[in-house]
Amino acid sequence: MNYTLFKSLAFRLDPEVSHRLALASLKALHNFGVGQFFYKKVRNITGLECKYMGLKFKNPIGLAAGLDKNGDYIDALASLGFGFIEVGTTTPLPQNGNPKPRLFRIPAAEALINRMGFNNKGIDYLLERVKLSKYRGILGINIGKNASTPLEDATNDYLLCFKKAYAHADYIVINISSPNTLGLRNLQHGEFLEQLLKTLKQEQNKLIQACQKKVPLVVKIAPDLTESEIITLADTFFRLKVDGIIATNTTTARTEIAAYKQSQEVGGLSGYPLRYRSTEVLQLFSKELKGQIPLIASGGVMSPEVMLQKFAAGAQLVQLYTGLIYQGPDLIRRCLNRLPNAS
Ligand SMILES: Cc1cc2nc3c(=O)[nH]c(=O)nc-3n(C[C@H](O)[C@H](O)[C@H](O)COP(=O)(O)O)c2cc1C
Repeated sequence: MNYTLFKSLAFRLDPEVSHRLALASLKALHNFGVGQFFYKKVRNITGLECKYMGLKFKNPIGLAAGLDKNGDYIDALASLGFGFIEVGTTTPLPQNGNPKPRLFRIPAAEALINRMGFNNKGIDYLLERVKLSKYRGILGINIGKNASTPLEDATNDYLLCFKKAYAHADYIVINISSPNTLGLRNLQHGEFLEQLLKTLKQEQNKLIQACQKKVPLVVKIAPDLTESEIITLADTFFRLKVDGIIATNTTTARTEIAAYKQSQEVGGLSGYPLRYRSTEVLQLFSKELKGQIPLIASGGVMSPEVMLQKFAAGAQLVQLYTGLIYQGPDLIRRCLNRLPNAS
């Protein structure tokens, strides 16, 4: 079945149900050995290896966090040809997330709104799945705090996840930019941020010795920041030696989709309407940091053209999520083929 047909059927179902169905189908296909069929198409594209944050990537197109929150589909997703895979967001304890419905499609705008709220089975479950996976490419683990943890204690949640994930991750992302956990975005500012980053960098230094490997600490930021906030953040990230930045998470802005009735839904907007703002934020970080910290672009990559805009704006790596839902896995091949070094 081609993706257009699959989509026309799956889009009749509730979005969360159809995401689960798509992932379960992909896993079943992979287990039956059909996964290699997808990969064959991208395996022949060569010349895309690259090195950032001390890590060797097979290609610079990765999977963004949130699609595989528990690490249940790592091998199946890897079979699609991604150069890196990010799992999570995971939290210290399992939690249900927000009440359903909490995921909404706006097909005419190629967009999604989600207020999932870090529904996940907890870090211990995720790490078991990581250990069972056969994937040997670059794996990022994205960590967050439990909804019940007060903001003042957030550092403890991140620290616990950081310590547990360290031995099993190639890089670790601290998600302080989801709009769906009350107050989480406050961690992007002032004392909260200083304390969080200093604690995790200190721990990283200890673990570098203990594990004999450096696992880069990456921060994922929101697109809903002012220019002066971005300048302050860039300075803080540079000063505290953050190893990478993901720009950006979903947006709470609705200007681009004001015409659609779903625009009233609370949550983070992703997909096509996010592309400009997300690229703008990426560009501002790039201008401030001048290549000193690797930048990973996320937000509205629905086509190879948008991917090229992300690289032109200063990204070293690019992640996909909503584009995959609307365009299907072939988007990966189309993006890879448009990279200047592809042969
Ligand atoms: C349903 C859904 C769930 C998501 N969950 C997470 C998450 O758990 N952690 C995270 O860092 N980002 C999460 N994201 C954000 C994506 O990783 C990505 O940064 C964002 O959607 C923008 O990229 P896109 O426009 O290509 O989708 C989620 C996005 C969606 C649509």
